[in-house]
Amino acid sequence: MDAIVPQPLSMTQDELKAEVGRAALAYVTPGSVLGVGTGSTVDKFIDALAASGMPLAGAVSSSERSTQRLRAHGLRVVEAAEVESLSVYIDGADEIDGRGCMIKGGGGALTREKIVADLAERFVCIADASKQVPVLGAYPLPVEVIEMAASPVARRFAQLGGDARLRAGVVTDNGHPILDVHGLRITDPPALETEVNQWPGVVTVGIFARHRAQVCLLGTLQGVQTLVFSCRWRRHSPPHRPQQGAPLAKPNYSFEKRQREQAKKKKKEEKEREKALRKAGGLPPAPDDESEGADDGTPAPAPAGRPPA
Ligand code: A5P
Repeated sequence: MDAIVPQPLSMTQDELKAEVGRAALAYVTPGSVLGVGTGSTVDKFIDALAASGMPLAGAVSSSERSTQRLRAHGLRVVEAAEVESLSVYIDGADEIDGRGCMIKGGGGALTREKIVADLAERFVCIADASKQVPVLGAYPLPVEVIEMAASPVARRFAQLGGDARLRAGVVTDNGHPILDVHGLRITDPPALETEVNQWPGVVTVGIFARHRAQVCLLGTLQGVQTLVFSCRWRRHSPPHRPQQGAPLAKPNYSFEKRQREQAKKKKKEEKEREKALRKAGGLPPAPDDESEGADDGTPAPAPAGRPPA
């Protein structure tokens, strides 16, 4: 954790956001292309970036709002299609838990935020201390949906105990409505994210567990705290981004092992049966080559003279 610089006790939430916005500059490599999120905290970051005069190759923006602000400062905005990857993505959160999983989308930019976050090796979250929670869900979970799916998706949430409400008068940058789901207690963010992602008509769920933060710069009255989260999910590990020639998934070792063991057992039993038959005089003496089944359990061709089973 960084050294904590004491702050005046009367700092407003806005000032805390400005503090973390400035602190995030330390994560920007001069001359690089940067991923930029959306929201009031990110606005502070963009302002700090412009004020710092740091040279930047460009920024991939997650919303029209951030694009406008970046351009207003004379910062170059680069399309996502122009970059293969980003080293850093800087964005805020509506809630962040003790593992770096977040609820995002309060500003409606969740889909593009997830797309840009997915390009980045590292998600640096900037937030004031009010966003830190033990369990996600007190903040209504935003879900961008295809309009036709709004009611079916709301019914699915009702089955999970959630109350999904259409965000009135809001259409995302992608032209879709947003549901805000109240009353959830998200104790397993990766599982719920995976589940909701399967529902037809869901464009993006505002749970960022697969794309959780590796670092959170948290603005507190005691100063900016740096929280570092251990990385259990690797965004760019196979099969997500397989290298050429690499297997898509690890072989199911226990399954293969079980098959090998069963084949071995079968071979042993066959041998014992043959031995017993020979002893009883039901089989001619064993041939020299003792041809047996293959290791994979494929039965051997019956030797000449062997009576049909
Ligand atoms: C935008 O859609 C959101 O994901 C924001 O990142 C989030 O709502 C945080 O916003 P503030 O910085 O305005 O609190």
